[in-house]
Amino acid sequence: MGRLKISPSILAADFSKLGAEIERVYNADFIHIDMMDGHYVPNLSFGPMVAQTVKQICDLPLDIHLMVTNPDQYIPVLAELKPAYITVHYEACIHLQRTLNSIREYGVKAGVSLNPHTPLDGLCYVLDDLDLILVMTVNPGFGGQKFIPKMYDKIKDARSLIGDRNIDLEVDGGISLNNIAQVVEAGANMIVAGSAVFGAPDAAKYISDLRKAAN
Ligand code: DX5
Ligand code: ZN
Repeated sequence: MGRLKISPSILAADFSKLGAEIERVYNADFIHIDMMDGHYVPNLSFGPMVAQTVKQICDLPLDIHLMVTNPDQYIPVLAELKPAYITVHYEACIHLQRTLNSIREYGVKAGVSLNPHTPLDGLCYVLDDLDLILVMTVNPGFGGQKFIPKMYDKIKDARSLIGDRNIDLEVDGGISLNNIAQVVEAGANMIVAGSAVFGAPDAAKYISDLRKAAN
């Protein structure tokens, strides 16, 4: 399955010193950018301007997670940042296949995120159009929530749906040293962690501990 990818979410960072916070996670693989619009999720975070700032101050590739009602509106401006991934929510896309291909046309990997209750079945006809499946392991909108245990089954089902395709399986929400071994065992190869990483006294050490615990 290749090397485990770790993507700390800056939602849990201290925004009064964002530059220094990003330096604390230098040994991660990506920086996870949670954009929330207050419609798709019951919370607002930040928009493309903050993503632009992160891009300027950080060497790690961006992993952009769009929790917005109208993702198509933001894809062009975000693609300019040359992120590694742009992930949209299944429930927010009326023309999902079109949206995924519009992301790929910018040379960016296209991801689809599923809320905890959203079935995987809806992805079976777009498996050739996506590069990443994001299984939400909490209901999106807030950092620091509790992992939903039923999602282990969903991660396993997603892994078998993926089969031998070159598709990343990302998990997001409530991931820490307490459950990383189980989510990786279930089939995840890309881990988002917000409060666990940024809340640790030594964030870089926490990231390497996550890698060790996953093995
Ligand atoms: C939730 C966001 C997550 C969140 C994860 O809506 O998509 O990325 O920041 O935070 P933790 O790891 O604290 O659950
Ligand atoms: Zn996220």
